[in-house]
Amino acid sequence: MCAIAAPNISHKAPQVAVIGAGKVGSTLAQRLIEKDLAQVVLLDIVEGLPQGLALDLAQAQGLEKHHKTILGTNHYDDTVGSDIVVIAAGLPRKPGMSREDLLHYNAKIVAHAAKEAIKRNPQALFIVVTNPLDVMTYLAWTVTGLPPERIMGMGGVLDSARLRTFIARELGVGTGDISTLVLGGHGDLMVPLPRYCTVSGIPLPELLDETRIQALIERTKNGGAEIVKLLQMGSAFYAPASAVCYMVEVLLQDQAHLLPASVYLQGQYGLTDLFLGVPCRLGAGGVESVVELPLTASEFAQLQQSAQAVREGIDQVLAKLQV
Ligand code: NAI
Ligand code: 2OP
Repeated sequence: MCAIAAPNISHKAPQVAVIGAGKVGSTLAQRLIEKDLAQVVLLDIVEGLPQGLALDLAQAQGLEKHHKTILGTNHYDDTVGSDIVVIAAGLPRKPGMSREDLLHYNAKIVAHAAKEAIKRNPQALFIVVTNPLDVMTYLAWTVTGLPPERIMGMGGVLDSARLRTFIARELGVGTGDISTLVLGGHGDLMVPLPRYCTVSGIPLPELLDETRIQALIERTKNGGAEIVKLLQMGSAFYAPASAVCYMVEVLLQDQAHLLPASVYLQGQYGLTDLFLGVPCRLGAGGVESVVELPLTASEFAQLQQSAQAVREGIDQVLAKLQV
C-alpha cells in the first residue's frame, strides 16, 4: 500500500469553551460541532459529565459528518486558546421561581467561572447565558475586567425568536418572513416592540389588531416560564442553545448582524453602567456598535422600568459578593 502524505494544514479551527455542561451547554456544544462552526471544550464541575457527553457527541461525528472535535473536562487549563467563552453554568429555574430567585446562587458560580476562564483566555470574547442574565453579564464583566465590547449576554435573540414563532403561528406564515425585536432585560419586564416587527417588510400592526398583538407579547414575556411549567424539571434549552449558537456564528464569522444582546450601556437610551438588551452590531470585534432607536414615551418608560429591575439585581449581587 502506498503511503499517503499528511496534509500540510496548519491553521487552527476556531475554539469555543462552553462552561456548564447542562441542558443548555451540552445542546450548544452539539449545535456548534454539528454546524462545523468550532471545536468545543465542554467544562463542568461534575466529574465525568462533560467527558461522557463529549464522548457520546464524538461517537456521532462520522454519522453527522462534521469535522470538529469536542473535549469534555473539569479543568480550566483545557480551555486555553478559546476564541469565545460561553458561560452557561448554574441553576436553572424550577416551577414558581423567577430568574431573579437564582441570583445569589448563580452569582458565585458565574464569578468563579469568569475569573478562571479569563486567566486562560485573555483575548476571548465572552457570552453569558446564566440567569438572571443581565445581572450575571454585569458580574462577569466586573470580575474579568474585560473591555465592554468583548462581553455580552444572550437574551434578546431568544426572546425575539419566541415572538417570531408566535407571530408565525398566529398568521400562518413561515418564520423566515418575520423579523422581530425584543429589548430590555431578559426577565418579566422585557420590552417587545411590535412597531419594529415586520412580516415580509409589512409592519405587524398592519396585519394584527392590538388585542392579538398584546396576547403575543404577553406569551413572549412568559415564554420561559411557560416551558418551565410544562417541563417541571428545568427550563428551556433547545431555543436558548440555538440563540447562543447564532451569536457565536455571527462573532466567529464576522457577520456584522444587528441583533438584540445584553450589552454595556454608556448613556444610550439614557442609561449608564449596566448591561441591558438593546440592538447592536456584532462582529469579529464583539459589540461593534449600539443602535439607539427612537422610542415612544411608553416604550421608553418600559425600558427604564426593565433597567431599574436589572440595576437592583446588580446592586444586590455586588453588595453580597463585595466585588
Ligand atoms: P442545567 O442544570 O441543565 O445545567 C447547569 C450546569 O452547570 C450543570 O451541569 C452543573 O453541574 C453546572 N455547574 C454548576 N456549577 C458549576 C460550576 N461552578 N462550574 C461549572 N459548571 C457548573 O441548567 P441549564 O438548563 O443548562 O441552564 C443553565 C443556566 O442558563 C441557568 O442559569 C438558566 O437559567 C440559564 N438560561 C438562560 C437563558 C437565557 O436566555 N439567557 C435560557 C435558558 C437557560
Ligand atoms: C428562558 O427564557 C429560563 O431564561 C430562560 O427560557
